[in-house]
Amino acid sequence: MSETFHIQADRLLGELHELAQISEHPAPAVTRILFSPEDLAARIFLLEKAHQAGFSSRMDAVGNIMIRMAGTDPSLTAIATGSHTDAIPNAGAYDGTVGVLGGLEAMRALKEAGYQPRRSIELIMFTAEEPTRFGLGCLGSRLMSRCLSADEASQLRDADGKSLDEWRGPHCTGALSEVALRENDYHAFIELHIEQGNLLEAKQLDVGLVEKIAAPASFRLRFHGSGGHAGAVLMPGRRDAFLAAAEVALAVEKAAIVSSSPDTVGTTGVIDVWPKAINSIPCEALLEIDFRDTDVEARDIAIGQIRQAADAICARRNVTFEWHCIHQDPPAICSSWLLDELESNARMLDLSHCRMVSRAYHDALFMARICPTVMIFIPCRNGWSHRPDEYASPEAISRGTQLLAETLRKLSQ
Ligand code: GLV
Ligand code: MN
Ligand code: MN
Repeated sequence: MSETFHIQADRLLGELHELAQISEHPAPAVTRILFSPEDLAARIFLLEKAHQAGFSSRMDAVGNIMIRMAGTDPSLTAIATGSHTDAIPNAGAYDGTVGVLGGLEAMRALKEAGYQPRRSIELIMFTAEEPTRFGLGCLGSRLMSRCLSADEASQLRDADGKSLDEWRGPHCTGALSEVALRENDYHAFIELHIEQGNLLEAKQLDVGLVEKIAAPASFRLRFHGSGGHAGAVLMPGRRDAFLAAAEVALAVEKAAIVSSSPDTVGTTGVIDVWPKAINSIPCEALLEIDFRDTDVEARDIAIGQIRQAADAICARRNVTFEWHCIHQDPPAICSSWLLDELESNARMLDLSHCRMVSRAYHDALFMARICPTVMIFIPCRNGWSHRPDEYASPEAISRGTQLLAETLRKLSQ
């Protein structure tokens, strides 16, 4: 059987649209933060669709959801696909959701065509790919791949000091240690995702086959200076924590610009000051810095430069600071046999394609540590993502889903 299954693009697009309405902020913005009412509603939405299609499901202790199309040979490990449905504040409708609902549609299309896989096929909806609640992205896949221990996960606190255990308690059962998988518990993992860059659109290609995922790192810096009255304290001798932080944010930009690697990117996406009063000198400031590269050595050299700059800036301004590494992950190299498989299926389906790098991180970054992994990218308008006008065309979504379904079919037979 080849191409005898039928992806129902209307059904898939309708579900993407419906899911996008489950949002803390009004459309077109999508906001779904881990364990918020919207995140929980998105999970129920997905489970209802999966059960309607006749698939079974289970959930682990951190809320990763596994939806299963059972294979005829239970001695074989499953093929997995999936992504996330959580969304950062003010995001769009396609990041993660295309991989989850596209994965569901791929499985449904195969089932409706009467296909019986030998290997089971599993769709995973990973918990908290986005870092919003706890500051750490890919929470579910980190725990699955043992890149984060249960003890480390239990230490996580949100901005209000509430722990992961407190958040998950009402929704998930079991110990966090039970989330960990063994190497090769899955035969392969394939994640379908929007590109979040504009290379495919610029080259007018249908799909990208991801060979490597850039190495992400992030840091939290707290600055301690001395507060005081904005009118009464003269400029000489001030110890303004915010101004030290502001200079460090500029040093982040500079380190990325002067890096020997063209792929180095640095962003200061979070900044906060205390006491946050217009007529009060900030006595404390906080920065959260995201720093990435495909070249891990170049990334780490640049991070060293930021640290040195922070030392010098804070010494000059008589401000102290604490540097906390949230994570500093290696890149992932995708499986060459899976890339060959995707390439041959793309050719067979007449999809124009190229091999490429993922600059964003994904749950695939962590799944690659425990099983052969690859990603399918589809173009998104102007490369826009993490914003409400994120958009992928129905054609692009349906082509990516077609390639995913064909690959799941081949690998599971
Ligand atoms: C994922 O959303 C990322 O920040 O790369
Ligand atoms: Mn994202
Ligand atoms: Mn994503």
